[in-house]
Amino acid sequence: MHQNGDVYFLLSTLFIFLIFRFCISTDTITLTQPVKDGDILVSNGQTFSLGFFSPDVDSTNRFVGIWYNNVSEQTVVWVANRDRPIANSSGILSVDETGNLFLHEQDRSVAVWSTNVSGAVNGEFSAQLLDTGNLVVFQGLNNEAYSWQSFDDPSNTFLPGMKLGLDRKTGFNLVITSWKSYTNPGTGDFSHKMEIVGSPQLFLYQGVTKFWRTGSWTGRGWSGIPEMTNSFLFNVTYVNNNDEVVIVYLLSNSSIFTRLVVNESGTMERLSWNDGDRGWNGDWSAPRDRCDRYNHCGRFGFCDLYKPGVNFECDCLPGYEPESQQDWDLRDGLKGCKRKVGTRMCEVGDGFVEFRRVKVPDTSTARVNMSLGLEACRESCLGNCTCTGYASADISKGAGGGGCITWHGDMNDTRTFSDAGQSLYIRVDAAEFATYSSKGKNRSHKNRFLFIGLPTIASVFLLCTFFICCYIRKKKAKRNEDQDGFSFTNNMKSLEGPFKENGIGKNVDLHAFDLGAIVSATDNFSPSNKLGEGGFGSVYKGKLLNGQELAIKRLSQSSGQGMQEFKNEVTLIAKLQHRNLVRLFGYCFSKEEKMLVYEYLPNKGLDSFIFDQEKAPILDWKKRFQIIQGIARGLVYLHHDSRLRIIHRDLKASNVLLDTDLNPKISDFGMAKIFGGVDDEARTRRVVGTYGYMSPEYAMEGLFSVKSDVFSFGILVLEIISGRKNNSYYQENSLNLIGHVWDLWKQDKALTIVDSSLGDSFNAREVLFCIHVGILCVQELARDRPTMTGVTSMLSNQETILPSPNQPAFVFRKLNYGMDSTSASAGGVACSVCDDTITILHPR
Ligand SMILES: *[C@@H]1O[C@H](CO)[C@@H](O)[C@H](O)[C@H]1NC(C)=O
Ligand SMILES: *[C@@H]1O[C@H](CO)[C@@H](O)[C@H](O)[C@H]1NC(C)=O
Ligand SMILES: *[C@@H]1O[C@H](CO)[C@@H](O)[C@H](O)[C@H]1NC(C)=O
Ligand SMILES: *[C@@H]1O[C@H](CO)[C@@H](O)[C@H](O)[C@H]1NC(C)=O
Repeated sequence: MHQNGDVYFLLSTLFIFLIFRFCISTDTITLTQPVKDGDILVSNGQTFSLGFFSPDVDSTNRFVGIWYNNVSEQTVVWVANRDRPIANSSGILSVDETGNLFLHEQDRSVAVWSTNVSGAVNGEFSAQLLDTGNLVVFQGLNNEAYSWQSFDDPSNTFLPGMKLGLDRKTGFNLVITSWKSYTNPGTGDFSHKMEIVGSPQLFLYQGVTKFWRTGSWTGRGWSGIPEMTNSFLFNVTYVNNNDEVVIVYLLSNSSIFTRLVVNESGTMERLSWNDGDRGWNGDWSAPRDRCDRYNHCGRFGFCDLYKPGVNFECDCLPGYEPESQQDWDLRDGLKGCKRKVGTRMCEVGDGFVEFRRVKVPDTSTARVNMSLGLEACRESCLGNCTCTGYASADISKGAGGGGCITWHGDMNDTRTFSDAGQSLYIRVDAAEFATYSSKGKNRSHKNRFLFIGLPTIASVFLLCTFFICCYIRKKKAKRNEDQDGFSFTNNMKSLEGPFKENGIGKNVDLHAFDLGAIVSATDNFSPSNKLGEGGFGSVYKGKLLNGQELAIKRLSQSSGQGMQEFKNEVTLIAKLQHRNLVRLFGYCFSKEEKMLVYEYLPNKGLDSFIFDQEKAPILDWKKRFQIIQGIARGLVYLHHDSRLRIIHRDLKASNVLLDTDLNPKISDFGMAKIFGGVDDEARTRRVVGTYGYMSPEYAMEGLFSVKSDVFSFGILVLEIISGRKNNSYYQENSLNLIGHVWDLWKQDKALTIVDSSLGDSFNAREVLFCIHVGILCVQELARDRPTMTGVTSMLSNQETILPSPNQPAFVFRKLNYGMDSTSASAGGVACSVCDDTITILHPR
């Protein structure tokens, strides 16, 4: 150790001696005192040196450069003639009478390189190397004006004190460009510069292609560099005024050497000299992960490295879906996302989904208004149909005065961070708004999507209106109760929650149809208008005088269950707003009649397609897959809506209606049950449902939970794929469709169940994946089945590795069905089954 120290001491003495030998003992080049190859200029504080150097030991090429004077490893921060090397050691750098630096070979007067300042009057010029590493050409003796500086013509290094950005007056924009290679300082492929279209951002380019983006300035740092906080070694100043848009880094301690380099492999790295290790330590670099690659997930996509349980980092922003599902499946996100099919933007009910911890999208398509606060920003975005989202322009100032960025057009290059970033508010239509509102509340502490209600004032207003309405209704209902023995109040109360919070309560005012109007709309319930026969009555098509078509469910008078179901359905569906749920327009009741008035869906039920030889071919695989996804989304909404869980209890093909575009809409909530947040399952003495769709624990023990709906969903999936009814499937040894599918699954022949009317036009992998999901949903034990949220995430990411299924429940056997059944047992459970009416009695 000691010896090494001595050697080092000797070497450095020699080094210093050599420097002084050649050194022209000054930091200045003048007309009469040029720098020849071999001379070295040292800045006043001994920080930087300027001279001739060869980066490549195998080449005689000489370059003029600036490097750290006190750093043992020669570290060049600037190169003058980077693309025009001098092939020998005869180079001379001088300053001329026009204020230009001039590099030439000894015997030639033609410049190899020169600065290019025009219009300077002849005078006394000198070039001085400053302690910042800046070479400046000054005019006059007192250095009062300068005509040129090396900081305006950087190479690959961004030094403290340099101004990176745009001079708005002259249009001059500084560019930092990588070297060609470690041994060639020529202009390389990667460059870094400011772009001011929209809101200013720094970009790293490869050639002309955007490669990485810092994001816009958030008041604290760049949106895409969350680690850039106050404790950053640098003091960072961002200036955006009428003169310039620049960023300047200053070191808080001048004895620390730090530089930012665009290196040859396209990385921006920040390096600091460590005296102890005698080396440069990299303490920051970008781009650092896949999500940093510019627009890795395409337009309206976002990149999330921390997505749980999924190995593809791309996803679509709320309200969007992949442009090409196939690319997405192949984990290629470049094509990005498009608005979900059926989205109705810019209509009443548009809302914003808060997307937290993000690097906001490329602001090239954005507008900035620093005078607006966040609330005004929202209003301004809502009022302009081209606006796709907004965010605060300065998160350091709080919601009130943070300025406003609104995006108009594509949202590119959005990513999330695990614990940094800002909030982005994305515009969605009313249907999507409702979905996110429920998601947000359920998993508020960990969910990235947070639902934002109407503006405070509006929601206060709505709330008031709601309570007033409620009050009036209660009174009214009370009166009705007196007359008809019917009241709205019971379920109303429990439903206040989601209703007031999500601000869509305005749609809840149902129309009370006049009996006369219904009678004439249905032509006095003419048989020709009859659409079908449900569990509790018949459904008729009706046409109002204004031409509007309706579906009217006339509850049978004999049904003792009708009243309860009617109350259920009215209060429940009124609040459910989702594109995959059928919409209730109103109701009608008189002394004798109870009717529900729905939107009319001309295509009727899913059963009329999949179980019909002639119509089955209309639904190709792509459509069937979309239907499966749609039903799943509708169920997610039901199961995870706010503090309540809604269990449908009678999900089956005939209760899924198709609209004109063949989008599925879940209907018939006559048997739905609402849960408060605490209870997840319940037991009923009255088992209602449809044989073939009922989970074993429900059919046998009257236990139901969201997992019972998952079971029915699984059956539905298998039916959609096979085109066969579960309960009308007797073949070989199998009791039903599930048994048959399970047999084939075990033999790896599951694809043979696929409906023959699909021909060969299906994606075998996708179909198999869906069969797998279907089987998972019909597993015997409720706890083994996924939740609907799980199902939708599987369906949207077919790269998910699915667990292998346990035996499905295809034979009714007595078991403890995975649920806690310690509570008092229900006595005789009557399973009164509707539609395909069968009644089973299971005495226990
Ligand atoms: C100097 O600038 C002029 C005008 O902008 C340009 O034509 C010329 O090529 C430049 N010369 C050098 C050496 O950069
Ligand atoms: C600057 O850094 C040097 C070396 O790390 C240290 O010795 C010195 O105390 C620092 N000066 C200040 C003012 O922080
Ligand atoms: C560029 O910087 C990155 C990050 O510091 C480093 O991993 C890479 O090796 C560097 N490339 C070159 C050519 O120096
Ligand atoms: C909406 O915003 C765009 C972009 O700022 C603007 O060009 C357009 O005029 C605005 N439209 C309305 C109706 O304000």
